[in-house]
Amino acid sequence: MYQTTIGKELDQAKALLERGELVSIPTETVYGLAANGFNEVAIAKIYEAKNRPQFNPLILHVANLAQAERLVTEMPDACKRLMQSLSPGPITYLLPKSTLVPDMVTAGSARVAIRIPAHPMALELLTMLDFPLAAPSANPSGYVSPVSAMHVFEGLQGKIRYILDGGSCTIGLESTIVGFEEDEVVIHRLGGITAEQISTITGAEVKTSLAHASPTAPGQLKSHYATTKPLLIGNVQQLINAFPGKKIGLLMFNQSAGLVVEKEILLSPSGSLGEAAAGLFRAMRLLDQSDLDVIIAQRFPDTGIGRAINDRLERAAYKS
Ligand code: TXA
Ligand code: MG
Repeated sequence: MYQTTIGKELDQAKALLERGELVSIPTETVYGLAANGFNEVAIAKIYEAKNRPQFNPLILHVANLAQAERLVTEMPDACKRLMQSLSPGPITYLLPKSTLVPDMVTAGSARVAIRIPAHPMALELLTMLDFPLAAPSANPSGYVSPVSAMHVFEGLQGKIRYILDGGSCTIGLESTIVGFEEDEVVIHRLGGITAEQISTITGAEVKTSLAHASPTAPGQLKSHYATTKPLLIGNVQQLINAFPGKKIGLLMFNQSAGLVVEKEILLSPSGSLGEAAAGLFRAMRLLDQSDLDVIIAQRFPDTGIGRAINDRLERAAYKS
């Protein structure tokens, strides 16, 4: 057990990371649980603290293009163009790894995931370090990702020494992960950058190839991004009818369902999908901590970042 401190001291974060300890860092997407990406002993601590069941590859965070280039053997033109327009920002690139990258970071894959986060504190810290930061989201495995220092504290208190407090995450959803196949861009995870943005920059269609959203075989993880209370997504009226006498919490986009429920959250009364995305994980946590039996979410418009919102809700949804 550690004493977990929340603070804003970059020097303290640096010293801990250099000693192979874990530090939670703010990014514009979600908070990360960071370790020295060149130190396998430090990386192993990430899995332990998160209770990650298997060795899932980790994203390496760097401050700039020069640092990124050392970690890869090539960068397709489409990647360079995306980097110029979108990085620092909520996008992660899968690229062939150089020998500098430990196999533990990529879980044996020949490709490494690289991201330049846009949060000023994260960028400053990364500039102070002479190694990249391996960092998954700073939540216990399977739970909703943290978008504030307090969320990290709630989940990992006692398991890490330091949480660098950079305020609330402005994007609120994880980064979009892209790979490159013969200069074609493939989206592997929907996130803070939309398919539309990517295709405008590259001038080509983007393919989407997502990992399965709803594992069904027994023994597979029940769900990801999950609340402790059952969460259902779909036709709100029908779902409510299926739970007579239960305490229901509703997660809506811009309009009230106009139904009698225990609690209802409107993520963006003005109808902004970006605002809804930024508030999604906080609202999921809030409903999870309220006195409710079930959480019901509407399906969001399946366009722009709305697709990433639906993806997260579907992954969080309770599989009966
Ligand atoms: O916004 C984000 O991306 C946040 C912040 C902290 O940067 N990080 C994050 O990390 O969401 P994590 O570990 O929770 O999700 C990273 C995803 C995982 O699903 C992992 O399987 C995938 O990226 N990934 C990482 N490296 C990979 C690789 N070499 N090949 C394929 N997938 C990879
Ligand atoms: Mg995660």
